[in-house]
Formats: sequence, C-alpha cells, structure tokens
Amino acid sequence: MKVIVVKDYEEASQKAFEVMKDYLKPGKVLGLATGSTPLGLYKLMIEDHEKNGTDYKDIHTYNLDEYVGLPLNHRESYYSFMHANLFDHIGIPEENTHVPSGLGDLEENCRRYDEMIADEPVDIQLLGIGADGHIGFNEPGTPFDSGTHVTDLTEQTRKDNLRFFKDLGEEVPTQAVTMGLKTIMAARNVLLIATGENKAEAVKGLIEGPVSTECAASVLQQHPSTIVIIDEAAGKLLEKK
Ligand code: GLP
Repeated sequence: MKVIVVKDYEEASQKAFEVMKDYLKPGKVLGLATGSTPLGLYKLMIEDHEKNGTDYKDIHTYNLDEYVGLPLNHRESYYSFMHANLFDHIGIPEENTHVPSGLGDLEENCRRYDEMIADEPVDIQLLGIGADGHIGFNEPGTPFDSGTHVTDLTEQTRKDNLRFFKDLGEEVPTQAVTMGLKTIMAARNVLLIATGENKAEAVKGLIEGPVSTECAASVLQQHPSTIVIIDEAAGKLLEKK
C-alpha cells in the first residue's frame, strides 16, 4: 500500500487525477465511487475531457454501489449522481456505464453484476471511505469473501448521508446493493481518497490497524497495488508520519 499525504482536499483531487490519467485510455475499465470525496477528481476529469478531448467512447465503468428502492431518476440515487457529476459531461456512451440496480430482483442483479465484472476486470477501482471504515457499502462485519450483495446500512452511515436527503424531507434508505470486498479486491489497482478529520479513525484502521472485518477497508493492506491519498487532517491519528 502506497500512502501519499497532501495538504488538503484540492491537492488530494489533483494527485488522484494524476494517478487516474494513466487509465483514461481506450479499453480501460474504471471502478467508480460516489460521495463527496470523488467530486473534485470528477471535476478535473470533466475539465480534461473539455480541454484535451480525452475520449471515453471505449472506456467502461462499474460503480460500487446503489441504494435499494430509489427510482433511477431520484436526485439521490447513485445512478443520478454519476450522470449529474460525471457521465453527462464526458461523452461516455450510456451502455458503457454500469451502476448496480437497487430495484427489481436484487439477488439476480448482484449475481449478474459480478459476472459482468468477472468478464471485464476493473483496471482501477476508485474508493472513498466511510467514517466507520466502510468501502462501497461494506459495513463493519462484512466478510472478506463477499461478492456484490444487499446490505443493511448502519445508523452511523445513515446519519452521515442524511445531509443529502434532508432538504427533500426524506429518510436515508435502509439498504443498499454494494460490490463486495472480494469484488473490490479483484480490481487490478485501487485508488482510495480520504480527507478531513472525521475520516481520521477510519484511515488509521485502513493503514495501521489489524486486518479485520471491523474496519472493512483494512483488507486493502492485502491488495497488491493500492494507492491511498489522504490529507493531513485525515492522517492525524497515524503513528508513522
Ligand atoms: C458513502 C458511499 C461510499 C463513500 C462513503 C464516504 O456512504 N457508499 O462509497 O466512500 O460513504 O462518503 P463521502 O465521500 O461523502 O465522505
């Protein structure tokens, strides 16, 4: 695991873009994430597409997760999020993009999703991290050998994500579909970004903690090619500076 410490969110997004740039090539498969963390990187990818004409026609994407029960066009579905914040601005064909479906036959959706990913392995998986160390929606206790599955969201995660639903007067969904830890670990390369003090404990577990299902992200210590980009605030509990 390679750890890069930067000053702040902006620098973290810049560094992440430098890493990502190598994968913005025809034939590559990107694993993408939602949340506030990747937004800076997505802005840079849009800018780069506009300025340099980086072509996404032959790039395929797989998103990590989706809430259960939200219609696709719900403002807070991860499908909508990806369209609003990236897909609609980079000229990527809709059929190249995949977001797990939280509607219909969930078991079948999960099985199909893993099959598709097995057929075209992810070259680089982008990740944020939850305050409780979750990646995707793999909450504490998720087995390391899990494939894409349906999961209950913890109270902590629902509280953290309330900021997105509050103004709609809605509750955060109670379940999600997420790539499992085995699915994530199968990616050839992983790029995790974490910024801000509220991620410090999760980052400590990720980098210096025991490899334990209590901090799902700690499994990445066993991944052969992971880059972690953190800002100083997120790294403040680390012993090795
Ligand atoms: C969400 C997502 C994760 C994300 C994490 C952190 O619940 N399912 O993929 O990494 O929480 O979110 P944020 O980047 O907004 O802090």
